[in-house]
Amino acid sequence: MKADKVYLVGFMGAGKTSVARALGRRLDWKTEDIDERIERRERRDIRSIFRQEGEPYFRALERSEIIALLPERGVVVATGGGTFADPSSRELILRDGAVVWLDASFPTLLERLPVDGRRPLAADRLEMEQLYNQRLSAYRSAHLRIDTGRGSVEHVVDQIADWLGA
Ligand code: S3P
Repeated sequence: MKADKVYLVGFMGAGKTSVARALGRRLDWKTEDIDERIERRERRDIRSIFRQEGEPYFRALERSEIIALLPERGVVVATGGGTFADPSSRELILRDGAVVWLDASFPTLLERLPVDGRRPLAADRLEMEQLYNQRLSAYRSAHLRIDTGRGSVEHVVDQIADWLGA
């Protein structure tokens, strides 16, 4: 797969942020994190944005960050868990770069999530599992799926770099 931009998508706890940093280093590309960009721009954390403005507002912020990054090449973009489930963001992303779905079994994803209250949609386990199942069909439209359940971040990076022919 020849590409000059990679998007990492997948559920909370899949390792998008850490894989993005390590992949960026490996490819000598920049790294962008949609959640971080939103928090910087809004000067408040995601929890406050959800509480004060609601989810639709947050999804619109994600879309506008994806659009702001469209001209950028040589970049690995870590999306938030819901970014690629939003139809308009998904469409933009699929047209713009190589899309890698970082996946793991639901129990593994749960285990990896800190119970620090920073993720508004990670409060209830049953609701999270429903959300994960609802999002599967969106995640499946990624160009490559990698199981991050076993092996290190470096192993995941190796697989993506091989696929990119890098
Ligand atoms: C969300 C995932 C979070 C963050 C927000 C909403 C989701 O990102 O964007 O809390 O809808 O799954 P991570 O996947 O980086 O935790």
